[in-house]
Amino acid sequence: MSLKREIAFVLNGVRTRATVPVEMSALAMLREVVGLTGTKYACGEGECGACTIIVDGLSTCSCLMFAVDCEDRDLTTIEGLARDPLGEKLERAFVECGAVQCGFCTPGIVVQAKHWLEAHPHPTRAEIQRGIEGNLCRCTGYVKIVDAIEMASRNDA
Ligand code: FES
Ligand code: FES
Repeated sequence: MSLKREIAFVLNGVRTRATVPVEMSALAMLREVVGLTGTKYACGEGECGACTIIVDGLSTCSCLMFAVDCEDRDLTTIEGLARDPLGEKLERAFVECGAVQCGFCTPGIVVQAKHWLEAHPHPTRAEIQRGIEGNLCRCTGYVKIVDAIEMASRNDA
């Protein structure tokens, strides 16, 4: 039987408590304990970015973080972008540009793009490519994803 701990943290602006096995990842906690399944599990090894969340203002692979290390942290997931103006703009642009195929990479890329655009509000396409270089997409070839992020950054999405 695995050892469990109760932790408290802020999740998408809401103070949250969860009881988690000490060996559980932050990603598994989000999906299986808290019930937020927008953040995706793919490689589980920090290679693909599908599990990207923001932790205390830093883009983080939640598959590589222990849930217990979320104690007292501020977490933002794709669900937390639903009422965020830039998050909404990105989501709309992804749909309008046809940047979503299977959609498995999309939450991680939108979270990463939102975080990155806040620090780089007027990027070139080459800069956008570098901004999302840690996020893999098996379907789209990236062109439409970059189109979408560019559209959102131009404020016309
Ligand atoms: S699932 Fe975390 S980086 Fe791939
Ligand atoms: S849309 Fe399928 S992995 Fe990106």
